[in-house]
Amino acid sequence: MQHFTFLNKELISALTAEHSTPFYIYSQNTIEQQCETILSIPAPFGLTARYAIKANPNTAILKVIENTGFHFDASSEYEVIRCLKAGISADKIQLTSQEMSSEHLELIIKEGVRFNACSLEQLRRYATLAPRGSEISIRINPGLGSGSSRKTNVGGPSSSFGIWFEQVDEAKQLAADCGLRITRLHSHIGSGADPAVWERAASLTLAVARQLPEVVTLNLGGGFKVARHAGEVSTSIEAVGKVVADVLLKEAQETGREYHLELEPGTFLVANAGSLICSVDDITTTGDNGYTFLKINAGMDMLTRPALYAAHHPCIPFTDSTNEVEYVITGHCCESGDLFSVSADDTLEPRLLPEAQIGDTLIIEGAGAYCASMSLKNYNSFPQVAELILDNQDKAHTIRQRESMEQILINEVLPTYLT
Ligand code: LLP
Repeated sequence: MQHFTFLNKELISALTAEHSTPFYIYSQNTIEQQCETILSIPAPFGLTARYAIKANPNTAILKVIENTGFHFDASSEYEVIRCLKAGISADKIQLTSQEMSSEHLELIIKEGVRFNACSLEQLRRYATLAPRGSEISIRINPGLGSGSSRKTNVGGPSSSFGIWFEQVDEAKQLAADCGLRITRLHSHIGSGADPAVWERAASLTLAVARQLPEVVTLNLGGGFKVARHAGEVSTSIEAVGKVVADVLLKEAQETGREYHLELEPGTFLVANAGSLICSVDDITTTGDNGYTFLKINAGMDMLTRPALYAAHHPCIPFTDSTNEVEYVITGHCCESGDLFSVSADDTLEPRLLPEAQIGDTLIIEGAGAYCASMSLKNYNSFPQVAELILDNQDKAHTIRQRESMEQILINEVLPTYLT
């Protein structure tokens, strides 16, 4: 894992001279390369790749990804509306949501967005609104989960995501009673699976497809892992592509059914295409046997993954110093949990880093996926930070402006009895 994966010293100096920290910066080139890698998977009966918008929904990112040929998976009706406003055509969008109101179902039916029912109740609700003969996708829980922790695992008996695979008969009956045609089958079991898990997930999903004669598309979700730091290993896309292709070919030989494959990565496309650029605000110690804290002007309000999952994002001070110091990197929120160097059992995990000075720039890597999108917005009344994209000539463009205090306050209402 190199440092400054897509940034070099000149770029960092130029960016920080022009934009005050903290801000996110994304690389168009890295995103495009990652998209190409997924699109090159040799699916024997065709491939549609969908971007899991939740990873990073900024309109500019959606446009970069759309231009490579990707379609989209939205996790809420609001992400659908975001896509439509960006000019993405409805037939490229699928909605896979944990919560689904009738009002929003009406909207997606009217717009022609594909619906992926995640429960029997969602299927029932859709059936009351959709014209008879409509095609639908169902998401199943194939009884298998994957993910680096319970929080990123969305399959198996402890997960509420999808129709339990043994209840597929019920879904089939319900669809038949309402005149719906289940033509697409979906499963996504979590973030971070290896090729062996993909093979099992594909086989289990195919076993369910055998009970649904009209299914022609198999969506196996996302979950390709990318190494964000030296201790992690990326999923081999080649290996996953091969195991999935083998499973599909074997199924075609045994049953004569040829499935169009869909995949739905989020992390893989954008995680290492983004960094959060911030600054060292203070350095404090707790005595000779204590710790040295590197306090930065960023925090869990804008990047929650370390606090939420103990996720490791490389934090690299931008300095020429050859001395090294063990630092605990702490965020700017008034929370002892706002740490960027913490272990899974919640203990401080000092990192050996080049010696930093107050005011130095610090780069937090692997911050393109589930970072800006999972920000806590205004905890401690810190504003939502700016986002920039580097085009393929390394020119930076602002794609989100830093929020102003007026914008933070705009929806607050002071009842007259308190004035
Ligand atoms: N499809 C569906 C239906 C999903 O729920 C997700 C992620 C994906 C695709 C994309 O998965 P990916 O390729 O990004 O692993 N916030 C966490 C991960 C939870 C993702 C939830 N669903 C993180 O920061 O790693």
